[in-house]
Amino acid sequence: MIVCVCRRISDHQIRQAARDGAQTLECLQFELGVATQCGRCGECACAVLREAREEAASEAHAEACLQS
Ligand code: FES
Repeated sequence: MIVCVCRRISDHQIRQAARDGAQTLECLQFELGVATQCGRCGECACAVLREAREEAASEAHAEACLQS
């Protein structure tokens, strides 16, 4: 799904940025240009980023559990 219409940025791109280390909206703005024009996508971009970071943390936890 397209999150940022102005820059044509999808949730997949935001999730990939999160996997690559993006932790804040400012990171997404720098890396992808999200929310740098009209700004209407900022809230949705933050929600997708938060969700992706929670998934990554959960996966890391599961991996740590499997290794112990
Ligand atoms: S929709 Fe993202 S800056 Fe306009």
